[in-house]
Amino acid sequence: MTEWFEQWFGEEYHALYPHRDDEDARRAVALIQRVISWRPGDRILDLACGPGRHAAELERLGGHVVGFDLSRAMLRRARERTRARLVRGDMRALPFRDGSFALAVNLFTSFGYFLDDGEHGLVVRQVAAALAPGGHFVLDYLNAEQVRRTVQLSEQTKGRGGTSERRSGPRVNRRIGPDGRFVIKEIELRGQARSFQERVRLYGADDLAALCDDAGLRVMARFGDYDGAPAGPTAPRVILVAARP
Ligand SMILES: C[S@@+](CC[C@H](N)C(=O)[O-])C[C@H]1O[C@@H](n2cnc3c(N)ncnc32)[C@H](O)[C@@H]1O
Repeated sequence: MTEWFEQWFGEEYHALYPHRDDEDARRAVALIQRVISWRPGDRILDLACGPGRHAAELERLGGHVVGFDLSRAMLRRARERTRARLVRGDMRALPFRDGSFALAVNLFTSFGYFLDDGEHGLVVRQVAAALAPGGHFVLDYLNAEQVRRTVQLSEQTKGRGGTSERRSGPRVNRRIGPDGRFVIKEIELRGQARSFQERVRLYGADDLAALCDDAGLRVMARFGDYDGAPAGPTAPRVILVAARP
């Protein structure tokens, strides 16, 4: 069976997140650079690099970047933006040598897509193995607490199944799945007879920290947005910085 993430991350995806652009990527990378200083030529893995906006910025700042992603359409876009080496594959089977990166990043909720939690643990363990001793992992994720609250608030207001937004483009309905583990977005593209689903595990900051911990990484900082604000229940993001001892 085809998984939702094999279908959704094609050209259509960009209609839903036009604000996730180069400027947004520059802010995320500026935060990473403030917290972790890498040397020119250090190898950096952009895990689930998508259209390459962070990879391009990391390269501009002297990193020697490898972008990794499952989607051919995303990698085509990344090729237009960056000279980084691009590798296609599934993050559950990383093809990199142990100890080969100084930094690995996984940005803008590019994690938490699998039904089986064991597969999320497997991904973080492989990232940890791909890092050199002293290397860092930055995981930028949705804030599950904030997502739960906003979805529930809007359900109370509307009295029925989830938030529904009509932006100028796609129609989006967001709800918490029946077992409470996932936030699910149903996305209908206007003028097309196609709809997509996005399903992301509602891991809280402590759950993500535990995944890092189980993989042998030590979490050294947590932020709540790209400007470096503290993490907290109303922050838009959960950004963890972890180190391989
Ligand atoms: C939300 S997008 C973010 C992309 C990029 N990090 C950014 O911020 O622009 C998530 C990315 O994860 C990729 N992806 C989804 N499942 C994957 C998997 N199993 N292995 C590797 N990449 C995957 C998608 O193709 C997509 O490019």
